[in-house]
Amino acid sequence: MDCPIRNVGAKVHAMTKPSILFVCLGNICRSPLAEAAFRKVATDCGIDHHADSAGTAAYHVGKPPDPRSIAEAARHGIDISRYSARQVEGADFMRFTHIFALDHANLANLRAMTPVGATAELALLLDVVPGREGSAIADPYYGGEEHFARTWEDVSLAARVLVEQFDR
Ligand code: 4NP
Repeated sequence: MDCPIRNVGAKVHAMTKPSILFVCLGNICRSPLAEAAFRKVATDCGIDHHADSAGTAAYHVGKPPDPRSIAEAARHGIDISRYSARQVEGADFMRFTHIFALDHANLANLRAMTPVGATAELALLLDVVPGREGSAIADPYYGGEEHFARTWEDVSLAARVLVEQFDR
C-alpha cells in the first residue's frame, strides 16, 4: 500500500524507533483500532516501529476486539481478529517511549498508576493532531457502526500525524 504522507512537514517531536502504547478502557474498541491504524501507516511509510494497545480496566483481558471494531478494521483491509486484550501494567511505563490515552479518564488513570522511574511520555492521542488538542476519542461501545467509523477516522488521522513526526 502507498504511504499517505506526501509532504513531510516540520518534525515536531522527531523520534527514532517509536515505541507506542495506545490505551483505552477495555482494549476491545478504540485502542485496537488506534494500534492497527498506526501499524498500517508506519509500515506503509517504512517506519521502523513498535506498537501495542492495552486497557486500564481488566474486564475483557484475553478477549479479541469487539466484533464492530474487527469489522471496521476489515473495511480498511486490516485483520485485527487475533488481537488479545490486556491490561496496562507498570512495566509499560518503561517499555514504551510514548503512551497515548484515548480519553481523559484513561489519561487520569494512567497518571495515577505511573510508577517511580517511568520514562514514557503520557498524552491524549488527539493532542498530536493540530486543532484537536485536549479532545477525547469518544467511546463507541454503546453506539452503532457509525460510531466505530468515526473512531477509525480519528485514530487514522492521529496515526498519519504521528508518522509525519518520525525520522525517516
Ligand atoms: P474501549 O470501549 O475502552 O474503547 O475498548 C469499551 C469497552 C468495554 C466497555 C466500555 C468501553 N465496558 O464497559 O465493558
